[in-house]
Amino acid sequence: MACNLLKGKKGLVFGALNEKSIAWNIASRAHEEGAEIVLTNAPVAFRMGSIRELAEKLNTQAIPADATKLEDLETLFNKTMDHFGGKIDFVLHSIGMSPNVRKGNTYDDTNYDYFQKTLDISALSFHKILQTARGLDAINEWGSVVALSYVAAQRTLYGYNDMADAKALLESIARSFGYIYGREKKIRINTISQSPTPTTAGSGVMGFEGLMDFSERMSPLGNATAEEAANYCIALFSDLTRKVTMQNLYHDGGFSSMGMSHAAMDIYNKNLDDVCDCKDEEGVKHRTRPEDLTGEE
Ligand SMILES: NC(=O)c1ccc[n+]([C@@H]2O[C@H](COP(=O)([O-])OP(=O)(O)OC[C@H]3O[C@@H](n4cnc5c(N)ncnc54)[C@H](O)[C@@H]3O)[C@@H](O)[C@H]2O)c1
Repeated sequence: MACNLLKGKKGLVFGALNEKSIAWNIASRAHEEGAEIVLTNAPVAFRMGSIRELAEKLNTQAIPADATKLEDLETLFNKTMDHFGGKIDFVLHSIGMSPNVRKGNTYDDTNYDYFQKTLDISALSFHKILQTARGLDAINEWGSVVALSYVAAQRTLYGYNDMADAKALLESIARSFGYIYGREKKIRINTISQSPTPTTAGSGVMGFEGLMDFSERMSPLGNATAEEAANYCIALFSDLTRKVTMQNLYHDGGFSSMGMSHAAMDIYNKNLDDVCDCKDEEGVKHRTRPEDLTGEE
């Protein structure tokens, strides 16, 4: 249901690759809520994805920009302000990529050139976007900036690899820049820590289906979908959340506050027999010792 929460607002959205993308859902919802949108993505995403289709639907422009390149970002912000005929009210950073994850390099056998790329694309790009916007004075007072994060910034999740470090950095940038931009321009900066979501980037994470199922069982409200992330994001772009800043906001059905749930325990117990391979002198079965388990990190 649309409530015109963003009527008259103008937003720049990074990261809509295809209709599964969280950014695609957010851009579409923001448009429904009355916002004008400019879309952007890396040049390669214009060739591989369907961003132009979304631009057509939203009756707007999609401007290619590599978010790691300052010159691309400067051109992008200038073109966006030309398009709107003025400054921007909200910005979405929905960008993530790890070459180590893509190539299957484990965390304890990382390629450091790739690691730096992970940090540059997934975290430093956020700083670059903010610094470029501030340099050009591109965002209106009381504007709102949101980036997408994941709970692996705080807790270790098997297989999330160097993206965990990138998310920790991303969230820290939101706080550090949030102080500066808030003090100067009343611009708020937050991160949304989203449930696992079946998108192109999400599905690249090792064991993604198992992770989705586990967090669904662990979360009292179940996993948050991309559509639900869009709803939450609209609230953060709207004037209803003007004093929320420098926060990492969990949007995960309660996952981040859980230790063990009934639904997850149930599955764990059902499978316990399969992994019990030794009995003690009293005949009690014991699980394989953790140190005997092997597996990629
Ligand atoms: N899918 C999940 O499970 C999940 C969970 C929590 C957080 N997130 C985060 O949500 C955000 C969006 O990811 P998604 O799940 O919608 O996947 P997605 O693959 O649809 O989006 C990732 C986007 O990053 C863009 N990108 C990559 N390199 C870029 C560059 N150099 N310049 C500009 N853009 C670039 C891609 O083109 C793509 O559009 C990411 O930050 C991701 O880490 C995803």
